[in-house]
Amino acid sequence: MTEPRLQTLYSQIGAEKIEELVNAFYPKVYSDPNLIPIFQGDMREIMRKQRMFLTQFTGGPPLFSEEFGPPAMRRRHLPFEITPTRAQSWLRCMHEAFEETGLIDHPAGGMFFERLTQVAAIMVNTEEDETVES
Ligand code: HEM
Repeated sequence: MTEPRLQTLYSQIGAEKIEELVNAFYPKVYSDPNLIPIFQGDMREIMRKQRMFLTQFTGGPPLFSEEFGPPAMRRRHLPFEITPTRAQSWLRCMHEAFEETGLIDHPAGGMFFERLTQVAAIMVNTEEDETVES
């Protein structure tokens, strides 16, 4: 009996769609009032990094690790105050980007968004009232 082939999210979604998603997502992030205070870096560079990360996260080639080493995403996010509200805003921008790119209707879209939701929850490193006003 032949085992059913396990398909990666990457093979179902494809490199082009991931790039489209990243391109739709960051302009929203960089104009979200809750996220502006922590997104001060170069948008082109984070787009490049996120495209590489999502490629490997969905089971594609390990582009991020080849250039930057182990993903260690929680540790990489520790310099930024990520409150539950900011995680919600990040996910709202991502959901809008899923809608804009049509990923929301893709057969693998629901699973992809669910996995991002799980990782976003892990990134929270600051309680709401600990945020340092700047
Ligand atoms: C929960 C809400 C999140 C917030 C508020 C957030 C915020 C940030 C910030 C402020 C940066 C640095 C930007 C810069 O370099 O200027 C960053 C980098 C990054 N984030 Fe997030 N993030 C969140 C969730 C996620 C999730 C869920 C993922 C992956 C699925 C992710 C992947 C990345 C990657 C790949 C980088 C680049 C890391 C590097 O510099 O090596 N983030 N994020």
